[in-house]
Parts: sequence; structure tokens; C-alpha cells
Amino acid sequence: MNRVYQPSEDTSTLARALRGYGGESCLELGFGSGAILQALVPRFRMVVGTDILSVAQAAFAKGEVEVVLADRATCFRDMSFDLVTFNPPYLPSENVQDTAVDGGKGGIEVPISFLREALRVVKPKGKIVLLLSDEGDIEGFREFCESEGLVVRQVASAGVFFENLLVFEISRP
Ligand SMILES: C[S@@+](CC[C@H](N)C(=O)[O-])C[C@H]1O[C@@H](n2cnc3c(N)ncnc32)[C@H](O)[C@@H]1O
Repeated sequence: MNRVYQPSEDTSTLARALRGYGGESCLELGFGSGAILQALVPRFRMVVGTDILSVAQAAFAKGEVEVVLADRATCFRDMSFDLVTFNPPYLPSENVQDTAVDGGKGGIEVPISFLREALRVVKPKGKIVLLLSDEGDIEGFREFCESEGLVVRQVASAGVFFENLLVFEISRP
């Protein structure tokens, strides 16, 4: 199933956390409705997004951002962006049926596949900012980052019903 994800508490939590970032170029993986791309426009000269869905319904002003129909960042060269951000599909799920929300068995398999691509296209001194839920295997996610020698910093959180949304900043030492 493919559908445009409607902005929710996770969208606004990540958008709030991104207020602290600015620079030349940024990329959002999985822009959905475009709400986060729109929030990035005032703070970056170039704002780019990818999604595997049609861009027709994205709610951003034409000309302010560039969008590409692509799998994660596979259409971009290495080390292209100051910031890469994503609110990935993160719900623990046996199979990935709903590509907007299903994150794999531990809820981190799809996010880690996003992170691998983000690490490829972010500049060496750039930052990656992403959102996860504590419904997923946060410990497994931290172990992955540690095994890659990455610096992980939690920069925001929000409690929503049964889960805590956590925003992490990832960088290279
Ligand atoms: C949880 S939604 C977030 C949407 C939006 N960024 C927001 O915060 O409201 C995850 C998004 O990732 C997109 N997505 C899933 N797999 C993808 C992939 N391989 N490459 C790019 N986008 C993908 C989905 O279509 C969906 O729009």
C-alpha cells in the first residue's frame, strides 16, 4: 500500500527540532506532504526532497524546493548536503506493507537503510537529523551507530499517547 502520509505529531516534533539548523543545502528523505520541506525553506539556500510517491499532492510552494521521485538518496552524489533529515517509516512490523509507516521487524530496519544513504550523501562535517519512536528497537539503533563510529545526540523528544518520539542528531567524530 502506498499513500501520502498526513502531517502528524512526529512531523511537528521533527520540524521543531530542525529550527536549530541552517546552511547551504539540505535533503529530506521521504517528504510525504512536504510539511518539513516547507519548514526548512527559510533556513537553507537549497531545499531538496525525495519520496517514492507521486509529488503531485505535496503542499509546498512551487519553486522554493526541488523534489525528486526516488528511493532515499540514491539519485544524488556522495557528500552533497550540509543536512540530511528524515521522519522514516518506523513502526515495528513483520512485513513492510504500508510504505509510509512500516519500519521492519524492530522498527529500525527501514530507518537504518535511510541512515546508510544519508551517511553517503551528507558532507563530512554535515549533520543527519532523524526521528524514531521508542516503540522500536532504539538500543539496536544506537548499537548500529556505535558500530559505524558515529556520534549520536538526542536533541528532542515528545510523548504521544503510548509512545515517545525521539529526535537524534548523527554526525561523524
Ligand atoms: C512517516 S512518513 C513521513 C512523511 C513526512 N516527512 C512527514 O514527516 O510528515 C515516511 C515517508 O517516507 C516515504 N518513503 C518510504 N520509503 C521510502 C524510500 N525508500 N525512499 C523515499 N521515501 C520513502 C513514505 O512514502 C512517506 O512519505
